[in-house]
Amino acid sequence: MKKYKIIANKNLKVGKIEKELYSSFIEHLGRCIYGGIYEPTHPTSDEDGFRKDVLDVVKDLDLELIRYPGGNFVSGYFWEDGIGPRENRPVRREEAWHSIETNAIGTDEFMKWVKKANCTPMMALNLGTGTIENAVNLVEYCNSNGNGKYANLRRQYGDKDPYNIKYWCLGNEMDGDWQIGHMPVEDYITKAHEISKLIRQIDPNLKLIACGSSTIDMPTFPSWDRKVLEGLYDDVDYLSVHQYFFESTTENDFYASYLAMEKYITSLRSVLNYVKAHKKSKKDIYLCFDEYNVWYNVNPLRDDWQIAPPINEEFQSLKDTIVFGGLINSLLNNCDIIKIACLAQLVNVIAPIMTENNGRLLLNTIYYPFLNATKYNRGETLKTFVVDGDQFDSRYGKAYYISQAITVNDEELVINISNYAKEESNVEILLTDFNKMKLINHSAMFGDDMDARNTFDNPYNVVPIDMKNTVKVEKEKVTIQLKPQSWNCIRLKIN
Ligand code: AHR
Ligand code: AHR
Repeated sequence: MKKYKIIANKNLKVGKIEKELYSSFIEHLGRCIYGGIYEPTHPTSDEDGFRKDVLDVVKDLDLELIRYPGGNFVSGYFWEDGIGPRENRPVRREEAWHSIETNAIGTDEFMKWVKKANCTPMMALNLGTGTIENAVNLVEYCNSNGNGKYANLRRQYGDKDPYNIKYWCLGNEMDGDWQIGHMPVEDYITKAHEISKLIRQIDPNLKLIACGSSTIDMPTFPSWDRKVLEGLYDDVDYLSVHQYFFESTTENDFYASYLAMEKYITSLRSVLNYVKAHKKSKKDIYLCFDEYNVWYNVNPLRDDWQIAPPINEEFQSLKDTIVFGGLINSLLNNCDIIKIACLAQLVNVIAPIMTENNGRLLLNTIYYPFLNATKYNRGETLKTFVVDGDQFDSRYGKAYYISQAITVNDEELVINISNYAKEESNVEILLTDFNKMKLINHSAMFGDDMDARNTFDNPYNVVPIDMKNTVKVEKEKVTIQLKPQSWNCIRLKIN
């Protein structure tokens, strides 16, 4: 049995958990849009062709922002293809994912869908093939109340009122050679600056997000991030970063993904602080972690140029799920600088929600910890210190066999723990200044087969289970018994 001692104090907090920390992402990629959110022939579809079965489970997640339309897709996307009467919209070769784009869904349909999902839009601009003019026109189309051509086009095709989209990404992963229109950092800064300058004239209330690094492994990390911040400090509000994890070396390295994420964020924190100090600025720029997940790249790129081919359709395993829990913990533990985080993606592509064309819907294993986070981990994160416990060696350094995040709001204290050890573990948490705690429940995901998944024919194979007699609550102390290799959430009533 492995043992851990953790301490936390009621008044020692990381910070507030912004509602935007629970955001997601839909891209014109594979079957995310077509066959995912939109399928007019599906029995559940509404008058706009949106799948209601998908909308229902998206609404349950209570997400804040939905990033759109990409991803790599956006860097070759001409947004004017996607407005106006459908029969006039061009069908195009889509270069990022080697697919055929019908443009049946565009900006106006996205706005309708996002509203039905009770979410807020976060739009990405094309800084690859797109010109400064294209970007400015899109912002005019969406947000202008004036009498210009594009505001009037919106009145004609979309809505008489401006959409007032606040969050705008200045491109996607522009540091990567795979990106359409990838460019040296200096060129990116120039283009992003020119666009931000002009679009802020249309709407001074925009929140702008600059491209930081696509992964921690980029040869240009973290100098790309430093240069982008130095060049765009006064233009933007957030730096976007991405990271996906998969089991590439050892199982232990994979389990240490939470530590890798933590170290990535720590480095970015240093870069943010460095540039702020160097600029002698009073302004803070925050991180927008707008793509994260476990991702194996199954059935990735195809060369048959189809409409909505299955790409990156993943059925995450139990093992992936406890790693995923660790990623959420790292986000929560850094919520003072991570103000936005988008799970990539939402439907069919590296997603918690899967669909069959004209058929069933499935909740992948990671849907459950994600739902749990958005439901219960609201409020603030407490600082936690593991003062004693078993560790293993990983490529990121020594890692504890558990990762944890503790959050608190007026009613509840919520303890999230992933246990990576192959044996039962005992966790003793000293929670000073909390003296009236009462267990609500301990929910866990575990099992003998770490490769177990949910499938359309066995959809509830891996789901959370309510545990019995695993938590002891004493004055200021909670002791928890964890199953081997498990994801756990323990909710306690306070006050
Ligand atoms: O989410 C899948 C892809 O991952 C996105 O299109 C891109 O931004 C990243 O490389
Ligand atoms: O596809 C290349 C890279 O892989 C990037 O897109 C990154 O996000 C992913 O890890």
